[in-house]
Amino acid sequence: MDDHSFIIVAIDGGAATGKSSTARALSERLGFMHVNTGAHYRTLTYALLEAGTDPTRPDQISKQLQTLEVETCLIDLSAQLAVNGKVLNENATRSNEVNAAVSIIAAQPKVRNFLFKYQRDQAELARNKNFPGLVMEGRDIGSVIFPDADFSFFLHADAKTRAMRRAKEGLKDSIAERDQIDSTRETAPLTCPDHAIKIDTGIYSLDTVIDHICQYIDPGKPEQTTP
Ligand code: C5P
Repeated sequence: MDDHSFIIVAIDGGAATGKSSTARALSERLGFMHVNTGAHYRTLTYALLEAGTDPTRPDQISKQLQTLEVETCLIDLSAQLAVNGKVLNENATRSNEVNAAVSIIAAQPKVRNFLFKYQRDQAELARNKNFPGLVMEGRDIGSVIFPDADFSFFLHADAKTRAMRRAKEGLKDSIAERDQIDSTRETAPLTCPDHAIKIDTGIYSLDTVIDHICQYIDPGKPEQTTP
């Protein structure tokens, strides 16, 4: 790895494909800043629902977004979105109510525009904080936010593995329904960019997936585990 270059790694994939575990572990291994953009949409969804906004009403969403101030709160390697000075905990952002509404809200162009610059600016923040790189996970990172990312990965897994992951976390989640809304929306749909490297997280352990990704990012380094 060139010491002077800043590296952007995009990780995309559908619901419960292992993006967060992978992105977190990768950022720890490389010392990169980590941004989970799913948490951005979840946080906005929580704030909008709390204010009584109807997720299907763009006019209400637009009005409510104007009342929200966003900033970043850096907790170790993780850059988290604070809305009106507050970072929400996972109990709030991963609730059944948020799971049910988040894809409907994330499909609104106004919501995506609201986050676009904020998300792009995370690279500048990471540089200013002297991180050697950024790992950003989501649905449209390699396609829309950083189409010029140094590395773009697209994770996928079979339906049974994905359902088991959520069940283990004790969460109710409409995985197939969210994927359907996310991949058919008009603005920034969930898609595997042509240039992305596809990885099946259903057949490999997390360590093996991280090793595999690191082989692309830093080919000089020996693998830590054997596939
Ligand atoms: O990644 P996670 O499952 O937490 O994302 C929650 C929802 O946020 C997704 O189902 C999708 O609707 C939305 N999302 C998005 N674009 C991103 C990240 C998440 O539309 N980059």
